[in-house]
Amino acid sequence: MKGVILAGGLGTRLYPLTKITNKHLLPVYSKPMITYPVECLVRAGIDDILIVTGGNHPGDFLRLLGNGKEYGVKNISYAYQEGEGGIADALALAENHATCGPVCVVLGDNLLEKTIRVAVDEYRKQDKGARILLKEVEDPKRFGVPMLEGNRVTKIIEKPEDPPSSFAVTGIYMYDTQVFDFIKTLNPSQRGELEITDVNNLYINQGTMTWSLIDGWWTDAGTFDSLLKASNLVAHGGANNI
Ligand code: DAU
Repeated sequence: MKGVILAGGLGTRLYPLTKITNKHLLPVYSKPMITYPVECLVRAGIDDILIVTGGNHPGDFLRLLGNGKEYGVKNISYAYQEGEGGIADALALAENHATCGPVCVVLGDNLLEKTIRVAVDEYRKQDKGARILLKEVEDPKRFGVPMLEGNRVTKIIEKPEDPPSSFAVTGIYMYDTQVFDFIKTLNPSQRGELEITDVNNLYINQGTMTWSLIDGWWTDAGTFDSLLKASNLVAHGGANNI
């Protein structure tokens, strides 16, 4: 399985920090943010990785990650997203990278304490479809939130006013190659983006979406509060440990 890290967008919620560098190069405790999703994929056994960057300073990703060797990446490639068309728009750029098989997608501002290897191995046993990772959170309104019926996710609502559960759909997704056809059918949402939640709902409607719960802590780092929280979690609780 190949890996894709989405580090496009303009990071406007972190302005003015993102005026002078790319959000995913900002420090989270002792390392630039992007190194955490890279290590997350490598620890799950995925070492052929596409980084989708965007906005300003894309050359700095190359300067940091180089050929990936230092991070255990066997094959690293880069793509550039123009503008801020959304997570699904950024993922569309991975179509050539993922021609022959499934992909594990990690958002460039997501960090985890533990490895996702078990979920990846579970997904490898699925012959088609997608898998999402859920985590119980205190503030589900900030995320995509699943509606759960027993063990089934029946729908995901993006940033709901009235969350149907206390879980967040985290920014770690596994997809088969159908994902690129699904993205081509999307229309921009009210915030003008191609939403990954719309992609996930297409898999749910097809009946091929599965899910796992994340073990250990998980956070995004795309707001001032979550960036600070991420640094504290890494400093005091480690990151991506087995
Ligand atoms: O962190 C998990 C959440 O991420 C999910 O629960 C939501 O369903 C999902 O929509 C997303 O929500 P955010 O509003 O937090 O996404 P954000 O716009 O902050 O983008 C997250 C990352 O996705 C960003 O760090 C880089 C990548 N991205 C985003 C956009 C808008 C791109 O590569 N290109 C883009 O155009």
